Amino acid sequence: MSVLILNIKQLLQVHDSNVTIVKGADMKELPILENAYIYIDHDTIIEYGKMEDYQTIEADTIIDATGKIVLPSWCDSHTHIVYAGDRTSEFVDRIKGVSYAEIANKGGGILNSAKLLQKTSEEILYKQSLKRLDEIIAMGTGAVEIKTGYGLTLDAELKMLRVIKRLKRESLAIITPTLLAAHAIPSEFKTKKQDYIKYITEELIPKAAELHIANYIDVFCEEGYFDINDTEAILKAGKNYNLKPKIHVNQFNILGGIALGVKYNALSVDHLEELNEDDIVALKDSETIPVALPGCSYFLSIPYTKARQLIDAGLPLAIATDYNPGSSPSGNMNFIVSAACVKLKMTPEEAINAATINGAYAMGISNMYGSITRGKKANLIITKPMDHYSEIPYAYAHNPVEQVIINGQLL
Ligand code: NIG
Ligand code: FE
Repeated sequence: MSVLILNIKQLLQVHDSNVTIVKGADMKELPILENAYIYIDHDTIIEYGKMEDYQTIEADTIIDATGKIVLPSWCDSHTHIVYAGDRTSEFVDRIKGVSYAEIANKGGGILNSAKLLQKTSEEILYKQSLKRLDEIIAMGTGAVEIKTGYGLTLDAELKMLRVIKRLKRESLAIITPTLLAAHAIPSEFKTKKQDYIKYITEELIPKAAELHIANYIDVFCEEGYFDINDTEAILKAGKNYNLKPKIHVNQFNILGGIALGVKYNALSVDHLEELNEDDIVALKDSETIPVALPGCSYFLSIPYTKARQLIDAGLPLAIATDYNPGSSPSGNMNFIVSAACVKLKMTPEEAINAATINGAYAMGISNMYGSITRGKKANLIITKPMDHYSEIPYAYAHNPVEQVIINGQLL
């Protein structure tokens, strides 16, 4: 199966030599080819160039992309799309003035989703999650990280991991699973948090590792959830089983989670709605990428991550949806790219870098995804006709995506 796309108005994120991350001032550069073609064989990008240099290539499928833009699919490096039902009633309560923290303190929030997921069958959970996955693929997401964390018991966390595994097997999208058993303290452990941490480190992590069913370990490092010592105990246990950290930090309070993440060589530190100088210093010269989640800031009306401070300090930045039922019930990466421009003051080039190559880095897959490079996997978006790629963030809440290709397959 081979695909040839001709007459592409702008081919974005073209790197002849492989890139795996872009940082600081380099994020302003988005290499493009005007009036281009690209040739894909099976799942791999074989050739691309300017139309003026094009010489006939035979292909099974030929697409005329006149007036359209082609770019790597979005890599959404932070989601919780396996969940049961929704939390619409909490949303309405928040509109009426009840805070996210007050809802959580009353046993709502994450615990509410956990209660529902525990009693939802694996089949229903799979179907609800697949619907969300198909929806985000149609909006241009080709790779997605999915976390557990609405199970909070061994059985329910494993149920989530099996659903993620099945999505991975039955969907074309590239999926990386993350174990987030440390997402909240279950009510039965309310007064004995250390017992829950022991349960995670001595039962859940070893079991997930034994089944080879998770790639990463995550912790919600936050007041009222897991403090810095709890987080360290969990990261340490994860490390013993080769689970690299990707952690929730600095959403509401700064506890020192960023420096701790760097100490444990975290792949990413995510949220960062709160940020101080020490955090920036900790991230410098590390391999840990910060990830901003503007959908969460929008939905909870909390500060937006100070992207300018991070990028201007020479750091890389990725952006992701945080798709989940409580703080960001949308997986639309096009909106996230737009919010990054409007609210995080990132240029369209920076936002597209953050949502493609840097998103792939934050998933640990940027050696094969995230740029148009010969030999990389063909995960592509073909947009609707537009004059310039800046229209993607400009026309916010529109769906700019016309067609998607995942691992060389046209959907
Ligand atoms: O990333 N902050 C922790 N976890 C999710 C929200 C979970 C929920 O409210 O269900 C987040 O925002
Ligand atoms: Fe999250």
